[in-house]
Amino acid sequence: MCGIVGYIGFREAYPILVKGLHRLEYRGYDSAGVALIDDSNKLSVLKTKGRVQDLEEYARDKNTTGTIGIAHTRWATHGEPSNANAHPHYSQTESLALIHNGIIENYSVLKAQLVAEGYTFQSSTDTEVLVQLIEYIKKLNNCDLFTAVQLALNQVVGAYAIAVIEKGNPNNIIAARKSSPLVIGLGEGEFFLGSDASPIIEYTNKVIYLDDEEIAIISRDKEPKVVTISNIQKTPEIKELEMNLSELERGGYPHFMLKEIFEQPQTLLNCMSGRINVEGTNVTLSGIIDHKDKFVNARRILIIACGTSWHAGLIGEYLFEEFCRIPVEVEYASEFRYRNPVINPDDIVIAISQSGETADSLAAIELARKAGAFVYGVCNVVGSSIPRNTDSGSYTHCGHEIGVASTKAFTAQVTVLTMMALAIAKEKKSIDEVTYVKLIKELQHIPSKIEQILKLNDEIKKLSLIFTYAQNFIYLGRGYNYPIALEGALKLKEISYIHAEGYPAAEMKHGPIALIDNEMPIVIIGTNTAIYEKVVSNIQEIKARNGRVIAVINEGDETIKALADHYIEVPHTEECLDPLLSCIPMQLLAYHIAVNKNRDVDMPRNLAKSVTVE
Ligand code: M6R
Repeated sequence: MCGIVGYIGFREAYPILVKGLHRLEYRGYDSAGVALIDDSNKLSVLKTKGRVQDLEEYARDKNTTGTIGIAHTRWATHGEPSNANAHPHYSQTESLALIHNGIIENYSVLKAQLVAEGYTFQSSTDTEVLVQLIEYIKKLNNCDLFTAVQLALNQVVGAYAIAVIEKGNPNNIIAARKSSPLVIGLGEGEFFLGSDASPIIEYTNKVIYLDDEEIAIISRDKEPKVVTISNIQKTPEIKELEMNLSELERGGYPHFMLKEIFEQPQTLLNCMSGRINVEGTNVTLSGIIDHKDKFVNARRILIIACGTSWHAGLIGEYLFEEFCRIPVEVEYASEFRYRNPVINPDDIVIAISQSGETADSLAAIELARKAGAFVYGVCNVVGSSIPRNTDSGSYTHCGHEIGVASTKAFTAQVTVLTMMALAIAKEKKSIDEVTYVKLIKELQHIPSKIEQILKLNDEIKKLSLIFTYAQNFIYLGRGYNYPIALEGALKLKEISYIHAEGYPAAEMKHGPIALIDNEMPIVIIGTNTAIYEKVVSNIQEIKARNGRVIAVINEGDETIKALADHYIEVPHTEECLDPLLSCIPMQLLAYHIAVNKNRDVDMPRNLAKSVTVE
């Protein structure tokens, strides 16, 4: 989604802003722009549809001097991707320039009022309405920029992270947020602004995260001042970033996605580190220990998430029901928030999110908290909005995930959910000691088993060549591997643009079987031990209709080998840990098919890394 960068200090701003925009490219965008104030206090905006590279090309022969500036990558919401709709937007007299992430919901009402006052608009965006409104209020009240922003934001309904600069005022950036993240980086005599920390990390690791309805006055020579839109002075808390620069580089891999797939043995070790004792026999999550009575007495667990995180949630359902004997419901956050759900004070709501900024998940959390439920976050990005708006939680600690297609965050989420299920089951005494220890021991073998599967990369790459031009795919799995069928299909469709659907294998007979012919590749996960025979029957049903079966099987499974057209062998593990292994071939297959098709693997069309609008 849209990205924000800002700089004020003693260096030339433009190179810092452009580098920051490149760092934010992973979020997904369709146009880019900068606004700068030069030494003669002139404010100029340079913007274009397309990539940051196109902006650099466009700006090559323009004035890009100045030590203060703001920059933006836009992911279209109101109005198509175009030069006019790109940010920054000028106000009517071109005295202000503003960038904005989020959606101003009441923009049409505000626009009508401004049009009545004689304002004209160059774009179809909601953002231009906001900058015009600020200018209008500033003139009307003869006030300074901060006050005008504060008054304007009191009229706004919706979500925003904004930064504004003003002609003739080279010493201030005004920034504000509501439901869309904004981070201020504190350097020596210079300050940075980012919609996340990635454009900031190479300059400083000291940051302030703005909270909802807070406005920051970022001045050249003093610490940022933070005031709410209701005029309450805040003392900003300075935090240290955990991220490092190497996480933002590809490290020799052709794509971030492949790098992140290969990082998984290490990211899972990081995820477990400090949570499993040295003997490897006990799992402790402080978020659970601190609230153990809540978990032990929970009547129900509601899991809310979107996309891949929702698939991790489905695996959580199997885990919590099997080991903790607590009923679980897994909900799309976007549906949950609008369907007047029944939420009891003794429900536990688990919100799963890589970014910690997904708008629907945040809204669902707010609803759950208002209803009195205890909300637990499972997030990756430290300091993001979800961990700051939940009662407790566990980080996934898999490092910065840049590829839009989530891979290492997914396996880390499943690992956290597994540890949570085991820790709660132990507290509830719903698991016997032998099983508990056996599963913890096996969990610790997962990273090396993933290592083994990653050695099949070349084999999977060869396999991908056979299916690159398939028009459709079906993914099937049962039990713990049903969510992996959904996840495999999602991975393929989002980066290769091939239509793919995941189903529980037994559901095939109730409809999807009609699609099967000799053109249809069917990826089936056949590693479950408990219902193995049933999966074998499903494969036979597909072969009877000439479908082309690609089976993920356990090493040495001669039965499915003999039936399938192609197979990928993965090591044995405990049934409940199977998804952590079976998802790896899914990730690699999708990756290679997308590369064969020459797709933009890390930044697939129309998608955004963190979905901060609903
Ligand atoms: O940051 P979140 O985990 O909340 O994001 C949820 C989805 O937007 C995300 O998982 C999306 O589906 C990915 N592109 C999947 O690869």
